[in-house]
Parts: sequence; C-alpha cells; structure tokens
Amino acid sequence: MWRRQLQKELELLKERELYRSLRLMSSAQGPEVVIEGRRVILMCSNNYLGLAAHPRVKEAAKRAMEEYGYGAVASRLVSGNMVVHEEFEKLAAQFKATEKALLFNCGYMANVGVISTLCDSAEDLVISDKLNHASIIDGMMLSRARFVTFRHNDMEHLEKILKGKRARRKLIVVDGVFSMDGDIAPLREIVRLAREYEAMVMVDDAHATGVIGETGRGSVEYWDLYGELDIQMGTLGKALGGFGAFVCGDEVLIEYLINRCRPFIYTTALPVPVVAVAIESLRMLMEDPSMVKRLKENVEFFVEGLRRKGIDVKNQGTAIIPVIIGDEQKCLAISKRLFELGVYVAAIRPPTVPKGTSRLRVTLMATHTREHLERAIHAFERAFSEIL
Ligand SMILES: Cc1ncc(COP(=O)(O)O)c(C=O)c1O
Repeated sequence: MWRRQLQKELELLKERELYRSLRLMSSAQGPEVVIEGRRVILMCSNNYLGLAAHPRVKEAAKRAMEEYGYGAVASRLVSGNMVVHEEFEKLAAQFKATEKALLFNCGYMANVGVISTLCDSAEDLVISDKLNHASIIDGMMLSRARFVTFRHNDMEHLEKILKGKRARRKLIVVDGVFSMDGDIAPLREIVRLAREYEAMVMVDDAHATGVIGETGRGSVEYWDLYGELDIQMGTLGKALGGFGAFVCGDEVLIEYLINRCRPFIYTTALPVPVVAVAIESLRMLMEDPSMVKRLKENVEFFVEGLRRKGIDVKNQGTAIIPVIIGDEQKCLAISKRLFELGVYVAAIRPPTVPKGTSRLRVTLMATHTREHLERAIHAFERAFSEIL
C-alpha cells in the first residue's frame, strides 16, 4: 500500500520534470572529473579553492590517521574530544577573529542546532531571509520559537518586522552569500537594525568562507564587521574542501552551545583525519590568500565571456553564477547538452529554487584554467543556441 503511494508520487515527479537521480563520479574531485565514464569540466561543485584533493590535504589525512586512527568514537562531551578538535577551533577563532569557535559535524547540523538552541520558546522570534538555506528553515521549524521571513534582502521589510513584533529574544539569520543566487546579504544594514531593535545576528557563511573578503574570511571581512556579528557559521565542505562546520562567537555563546545544543551534544565527534584536513586547509588559506584572488579572476573572466555571447548572468563577485532558464524541461535539456559537450552543470529545480526559476547554478574553482573556462563558454553558447 505505502509502496504504491510512494511510487505514484515518484511518477508525478517524473511527469513534472522534477525527478532527481544520482550521478556517479569515479575520479578525484577537481576542475576535471570522470562522471559515468566521461571526462568533463566540473562546474557545479563547491570545491571553490580546489582543496578537496590537494596533496597537502591528502598528506594531513594520512599523518593523522597514522597517529590517531580514524574515529573519535564518542560525543565530544564523553570521550571524543581530541587534540585535533580543539586545535581546529583555536585556528577557526583566530581566522574569524572571535573569542571562540565550536566544531559541528556539518553545516546542516550547525544551523539546526544553533537556531533551535538560541530560540527555544514561543517567546522567541527567528527572522529569516526568504531565500535562506533549507537547513535554516529546518532549524526554525525544529525550534519552538515563532518564526517569520522577510523578502529577500529587503531591509525595509526586515525593519517592519523588528518594529512590529515583541519577543524575549530575536534572532536575525541570513546566508552571507545566498546558495542558489550567489548574491550577498547587506550585513552592515542588518547589523545596524539588529542593534536598534536589540536582535542577535547570525550569518551562515557556507559560501562566503574562503570566497569573499580579501583574504577569504567571509562576511566579517567583506563588510568589515569585526566584533559586530554575534554568530558566524562556516562550513568545511565547500571552499575548505573537506567535511564539517564551525560556529564562531564569544565565550558565552560557545559555552551555552556546548551545554545546550543537542546536535552538538548527542552525536559522535568528527573523525580525526577529517579534522586534520580542516586544520591543513584553513592553514593553507591563511598562508596563501592568493587562491581567493585566483577564484575571483576566474569568475570575472567567465561572467564576461558568457555576457559577450549574449548570455545574461548575475554575479556579485562570489563563486556562484546562476544562469536562470525558468522552465524545468529546458533547464534539464541544456544541462544534458552541456554534459555531451564536456561540461557538467547540474540543473537546479523546485523545490530547491522557486517555481519558474530553474537554473544552471554554475560554480567555479580557483583551479579552473583559462582553457577550461574558454571551452565551457563555447559549450554554453552552443547549447543555448540549440535549445533556447
Ligand atoms: C547556505 C548553506 N548552509 C548550510 C549548508 C549545509 O552545510 P553542510 O553541507 O556542511 O551540511 C549548505 C550546503 O550544504 C549551504 O549551502
């Protein structure tokens, strides 16, 4: 019975061109990869700085594995708190210029955990940008707080909400760089409003860390808001090429999370090589921020190239370049044709993005060469002229 119901729903997804399936990669992550037996230029990974398979990353994982083995095999609060975890947290706090940092097992858990821990009663209010990541939405749903969304990057709407609603604690949450549109939250204005209406500010820097700000420190550096952002979340599975996440803030915040945050408390600590890799990647970024500049130059080159071919794209200097197609079927057709032409960009469709805004979410790496980019621009031109 239930199986038939699920089958029917799946059929419906297929009819609407919303069915999703997995694609199999059989090479290391890099600017070129092998997917289903084909060597293609990869243009939809979050490996922004190309660190995922960097020789230093591999070496760090090997060394850590040799010394400590793999698993941490307990929660941090029981017996899973190992030297590497605290070493990473010190480095992350230094990187974001905060008093403290705390590791989480992934960005999804960090968002769900922080939001539902800081706002946990109907007296509290979470205020979220309409285009925030799904993990922020899930965090609001899991919290017992009231929550409300404001129109994307609309500061007048945000102020209206702040002015009109009373709460014991108000938490404004935004993506520093929005994951599907690649635009940047106006954090200076958000912080100003938060001070005026006594709200906390949390920024999800999943796509900002390693990408914006001269040295890749993310929103805090881009907007020069040192000491002003109450909660900064960063992930390790994107520009830093690994897996996991971290939350930066002052001592009170971190102590509170250690004591109260269920997705921190009730889960096994990250395996040692995973954390050793995070330390190594972060060190590499801190030693050599020129990779951030290379990424930016690649983005400028690619955006200019597409525009010269008459393909309209928006970009604010982040690694995410959305090419909006609108119609689901056309979007899938272009993605398929690009693959045949040697470029892999996944089609992003509802419910990940609003209906009618299906898109090719192009993401670049610092390690794409000019030749990769030129080939991709050519493939886009060809696929567009054939399908649209
Ligand atoms: C904006 C944003 N926040 C949070 C996450 C979740 O991070 P993680 O993949 O580490 O769970 C993602 C993507 O995965 C994201 O794009």
